[in-house]
Amino acid sequence: HAFDTGGHSHFMAKEIYEQPAVIDQINRLYRDRSLLDQLFSLDAARIRRINFVACGSSFHAASVARHWIQSMSGIECTVHVASEYRYEALPRIYPGEVAILVSQSGETADTLAALERLRRLGMPVIAIVNESGSTMARLADITLPLAAGPEIGVASTKAFMAQLVVMAHLSLHLALRQASPTITGRLRDHLLRLPALIDAALHNEPAVIEAASGLAGVSSALFLGRGPFQALAAEGALKLKETSYIHAEAFPAGELKHGPLALVDDAMPVFALAGSDDLRPKLASNLREVTARGGQVHVIGDRESMLSMADVASGMMTVPRAPEFIRPMVAAVPLQLLAYHAACVRGLDVDRPRNLAKSVTVE
Ligand code: G6P
Repeated sequence: HAFDTGGHSHFMAKEIYEQPAVIDQINRLYRDRSLLDQLFSLDAARIRRINFVACGSSFHAASVARHWIQSMSGIECTVHVASEYRYEALPRIYPGEVAILVSQSGETADTLAALERLRRLGMPVIAIVNESGSTMARLADITLPLAAGPEIGVASTKAFMAQLVVMAHLSLHLALRQASPTITGRLRDHLLRLPALIDAALHNEPAVIEAASGLAGVSSALFLGRGPFQALAAEGALKLKETSYIHAEAFPAGELKHGPLALVDDAMPVFALAGSDDLRPKLASNLREVTARGGQVHVIGDRESMLSMADVASGMMTVPRAPEFIRPMVAAVPLQLLAYHAACVRGLDVDRPRNLAKSVTVE
């Protein structure tokens, strides 16, 4: 039942473990193209520019999707925090420009205000929303469902995962204009394999519990990544601060030497997302700067990346090796489990963190 914890100690744990089933459900829903074919009904039938607008975890999911869409279809994407975008001076709107609003609840006040503003300006609005009866779902020109089921834990987990998977399908759909069907077909097969990979990532929970046990008395943590994994780093930091009240910040790994390195000492754990194969040597050299200053580096990556980072890692959270396209989803699992277990070792109520609300319906 959606409204009990189903044998888990908390909704957050239950929702983390529901993710393989949620992904299966989304893959089924988006298998026939009718949902995404709605995009052809837009005046902007040839989408030339996408403005993502969202808050919190939904913002981070959109920040990952930007990389997929730009690399697969060459469509320019920008990602905006809704509380800024609703007031910001907007540049000229071009034909073919659309907005994609991403929201679990479909009721976040700032995202809704951005929606209303964009509609007034005449920009077509696509909403990616979990709550199908929500205001956003009703007001958007096109609504793409997340179908994650009710999310009760305040810190988003399965809705974040669902956002990634739906936007992965969307990215493939947009890529059909550019890439050969063989390539997009192969990428779609990766999405079909994703539930099994998430399941395998969940099996590595013991290593995450060990890392979380080191966070009992910690006051700050740093998360680093490059490319799409920079957005995952931001999500990892957000999850950790939401549930465990540890001051956590995320930076693109290459920015380390422009400031954050000054914070590093042996009391501050650094979590590094080893995502993309091409950038791995660069990340490793960023991390050497951390270990040289006594910092403790925990690497999140597959076995192959672990081998090349063994000299810098004092802790490892291994994930199964996955095709690069779907690695962001796999990497999300240890980050979610880390936030969950860190809160548990600190004796906190993960489902109802202090000062936070599931849905922020006032400005
Ligand atoms: C709150 C929640 C977050 C969520 C954010 C955006 O801060 O605690 O988990 O990511 O709102 O909410 P939305 O419903 O628009 O995705």
